[in-house]
Amino acid sequence: MAYSHETVMQVEALTKVYPGDVTAVNNVSFTIQKGQMTAVLGPSGAGKSTLLRCMNRLISRTSGRVVINGRDITLCRGKALRQLRGDVGMVFQQFNLAPRLTVFENVLAGRLGHITHPVWFFASIFRKFNEREKEKAFQALRRVGIEHLAAKRADSLSGGQQQRVAIARTLAQEPSVILADEPVASLDPASSQRVLGILKKICDSRDIPVIVNLHQVDLAQQYANRILGIQGGSLVFDGPVTDFSMDIARRIYGTQFESAIFHQDHRKTAAA
Ligand SMILES: Nc1ncnc2c1ncn2[C@@H]1O[C@H](COP(=O)(O)OP(=O)(O)OP(=O)(O)O)[C@@H](O)[C@H]1O
Ligand SMILES: [Mg+2]
Repeated sequence: MAYSHETVMQVEALTKVYPGDVTAVNNVSFTIQKGQMTAVLGPSGAGKSTLLRCMNRLISRTSGRVVINGRDITLCRGKALRQLRGDVGMVFQQFNLAPRLTVFENVLAGRLGHITHPVWFFASIFRKFNEREKEKAFQALRRVGIEHLAAKRADSLSGGQQQRVAIARTLAQEPSVILADEPVASLDPASSQRVLGILKKICDSRDIPVIVNLHQVDLAQQYANRILGIQGGSLVFDGPVTDFSMDIARRIYGTQFESAIFHQDHRKTAAA
């Protein structure tokens, strides 16, 4: 498998079989390099979320390897696993912010490298962050263009703004790679464009590669430079966006082709 100094992550023969003998990811291999914005496309149930979740060990894989910066995340335990997880930023459809904390506190939480602590925990440690940590959090907010919202409660923001907070939190974590699972599925078209534009800019300028699960083919074509097509858990297409065609999309999506192509137009109509 291709490996160079630009390689950040390698997925090798990754397989996930859920209880009940459901093979959600089937022998998938690919390499992620700096500067790449990779869109994962595939019909509902294809295994896109499972793939991303195996890549940061939110769930454990059945077989195969996920190597980040040369270290196999599937073999790590305890502190080593926590450190490697900090290397993988996650962005979710539902933002996963702490709603009662401010925007700034949510982003500062990214400095902890992981986001699974209860609110009281944050409250007790915020005063321990030094000025440098706080400046990094502000920098992250500036990068997504919402520093003016720093003092607002997270739950007072629009969906698009909340997703930008979530991205800033991930940036504050200073990860080697960002995985985004349907980050725009709950957003209106204008917010979707803005959020994907921010992710693309991160790829381009900070050299943090982003892997994004998307339902809309047109958005993938607009923002990604590489497409992974998943069908029934298997990788059926891996290539530059310039090699991607409607014929390939039809093969990947099968009976869900129409909704994948026209999804956004439906939303535009609904929003009008
Ligand atoms: N916890 C689970 N236990 C058993 N089967 C599961 C579990 N989670 C997902 N699956 C199954 O694994 C397959 C892949 O699911 P996954 O959620 O990864 O697909 P997806 O491509 O993300 O779909 P969507 O586009 O709808 O989000 C599906 O058949 C799903 O029913
Ligand atoms: Mg999914």
